[in-house]
Amino acid sequence: MTISRPPQRTAVITGVGAERGIGRATAHRFARDGWAIVGLDLDGDAAEKLAAELTERYGVPAFGAAVDVADEASVLAVRDAVAAANLPTVGAVLNIAGITSPVPFLDTTVELWNRIFAVNVTGTYLVTKAFLPDMIAGGYGRVLNMSSVSAQQGGGVFGKTPYSSAKAAVLGFTKALARELGPTGITVNALTPGAVDTDIRVHGTTPEIEEAIVKSIPLGRQASVDDVTSLFAFLASEEAGYLTGTTQNVNGGSYFS
Ligand SMILES: NC(=O)c1ccc[n+]([C@@H]2O[C@H](COP(=O)([O-])OP(=O)(O)OC[C@H]3O[C@@H](n4cnc5c(N)ncnc54)[C@H](O)[C@@H]3O)[C@@H](O)[C@H]2O)c1
Repeated sequence: MTISRPPQRTAVITGVGAERGIGRATAHRFARDGWAIVGLDLDGDAAEKLAAELTERYGVPAFGAAVDVADEASVLAVRDAVAAANLPTVGAVLNIAGITSPVPFLDTTVELWNRIFAVNVTGTYLVTKAFLPDMIAGGYGRVLNMSSVSAQQGGGVFGKTPYSSAKAAVLGFTKALARELGPTGITVNALTPGAVDTDIRVHGTTPEIEEAIVKSIPLGRQASVDDVTSLFAFLASEEAGYLTGTTQNVNGGSYFS
């Protein structure tokens, strides 16, 4: 399928720091498709290096910076830095930064619970809110939120109660904001991947658990990051303009809704 591209706009992507992560792969995919990129991560050095690499490899404007998506002052400072960087208008916000909760329920603390919610849920709220005015002003916008199949059926690994709860909150956020933004034409959608082959999965798993997860997937394998980035690319495109409030089950068939 050929996916047509909008005029050059900027995609703001969080969670780009991990070498094998979904955020970084998404930044590459969007830069390859011609988007200008703002790449944000707790690891600012990694984000800055990535931006330089994207400009060199794909010839697109790119800006990388440190951010803690859970911290409003940090997000607002980055928003101001992006405004000063003179990039094309923001056309997409991809809330990919996330952390998991690899401890059994009775060992969780309220600090862990709050941090899981702060990064996965509050971070999604803060980054979306910071860049939404640019998208409204530019007349084009795609908000893409990273949830998880854990939100729909609990986690495949122990310790997923805070994570599954937070990722379920991301789905509620997605649906409510999709309704509210409908009249603007800005769409809001969520992805609920199953197992994706990245380093986040090393927390609290074992080869036996991983084998059981793969056996439960009709397509018989974990997702590659490309399975996820290609869906993001479509959802950010003009062709996806009639999809909003949806939950995209990119999970190899492990859960049908
Ligand atoms: N890998 C999977 O199996 C899977 C499945 C479903 C959903 N997800 C979700 O996809 C997203 C990406 O996962 P991944 O596998 O690439 O994880 P990853 O751990 O490889 O990468 C996550 C990135 O987010 C960054 N980050 C963490 N906290 C941050 C904060 N407070 N502010 C800014 N950046 C922060 C990290 O530095 C890291 O670069 C997460 O939201 C995750 O929950 C992953």
